[in-house]
Amino acid sequence: MAARDKPITDEERAFWADIRRQFYLEDGVTFLQGGSVGPSARPVIEQVIEWLREVEANPLYNQGGRLMGPLVESAREKVADFTGASAKNTALVLNTTMGMNVPARGLPLQPGGEVLMSDQEYPSVQRMWEHMARTQHVLIRKVPLPTPPESPGEIVDAFAARVTPRTQVMVFSHVYCTTGLVAPVGELTALAHEHGAVAVVDGAHAVGMVPVDIEAWGCDFYASSTHKWLLAPKGTGICYVADPYLSALPAPILGYNTAPFGRAGRFDVTGTHDVTHFAGLGAAIDYQLGIGWEDRIRPYCLGLARYLRELITTEIEGARMTVPPGPGMSGFLTSFTIDGCNLRKVVALMWEEYRIQIAATRAGDQPVFRISTHFYDCYEDIDRFIDVLKEVLATRRDELFEERE
Ligand SMILES: Cc1ncc(COP(=O)(O)O)c(C=O)c1O
Repeated sequence: MAARDKPITDEERAFWADIRRQFYLEDGVTFLQGGSVGPSARPVIEQVIEWLREVEANPLYNQGGRLMGPLVESAREKVADFTGASAKNTALVLNTTMGMNVPARGLPLQPGGEVLMSDQEYPSVQRMWEHMARTQHVLIRKVPLPTPPESPGEIVDAFAARVTPRTQVMVFSHVYCTTGLVAPVGELTALAHEHGAVAVVDGAHAVGMVPVDIEAWGCDFYASSTHKWLLAPKGTGICYVADPYLSALPAPILGYNTAPFGRAGRFDVTGTHDVTHFAGLGAAIDYQLGIGWEDRIRPYCLGLARYLRELITTEIEGARMTVPPGPGMSGFLTSFTIDGCNLRKVVALMWEEYRIQIAATRAGDQPVFRISTHFYDCYEDIDRFIDVLKEVLATRRDELFEERE
């Protein structure tokens, strides 16, 4: 592809432009940061507002069994289907943080044991396990992730090199928030099981970005934030809990769920709360399936990511890609770095002066830009980001390269 030739027909361009109008996203904002929190589409939010109105009209009658109960259970079925899981094993939680607390707070760790995780797990996930390790006298072992790895096997080898007979839990991400790496969940889960360890997967970025097949992979726990790539209402997530743990573990917050009842619903958000957004999770899945997640959304988003990567490589001087190049090893997140450049300053400048939202983070010891491209974005959004990046790198050099991060 010659740089800036866009692999899209006029008809497709019109289709996606029409979809983009179904979002509340402000005109003039280039939103390339949906990895942190995604915008929900108008039809989804309007449906949630409609449910809220109905609940408010008769709170006691509508909140529970009559109106919302069946809608929430139907959302559970839909999200379970979408992730290759059973509804029985799928808890509806607020977010990945809450979901990851289910195994972190519930699994009994034996003193002298080890929890194995990479050095690129999400900071709040690292902290919760570090806390549990301190209080239960187990050791955290960290696997340095190759950045970027050349093959999925390299990731498995990195974990295999550090797994020991003392490993009780292996914690890893499905899609790494640092670089966009898609990890081989099935192989990593098998590695954990070969060593008698529990496989805990952080799928915060995966659901809505890459195919997810939790039960086929045999994961013990799998948590995700559906308000990211699935574009569900904010404060919706899932935690898959495999059969052996459904009754064995206490929920992180106790209440009516204290006594086991053999379903992951025990690990749901508990006590009285607004459930309309969980029903909205079902609406968000219907919305993406209605467009065609597998046959339209994914190919379009992978096309955007390919185009972005091509432009970074050919037009940005000094850029070094940190997202893996291999097929199937990444999705809609693109990461790269520019040695010596203060990336956080670039991010601030882009937002304050150009209304472009991107992120900077760290992959191990390297600062990286992280760009999220979803189906409400278009090829011209990417052109704009690249043009502005070139401009700031050329005109603000003194400011951006004056100190090392
Ligand atoms: C890999 C990963 N895990 C967990 C989280 C936490 O997600 P939440 O804030 O929705 O709980 C994030 C958030 O960005 C993440 O990127």
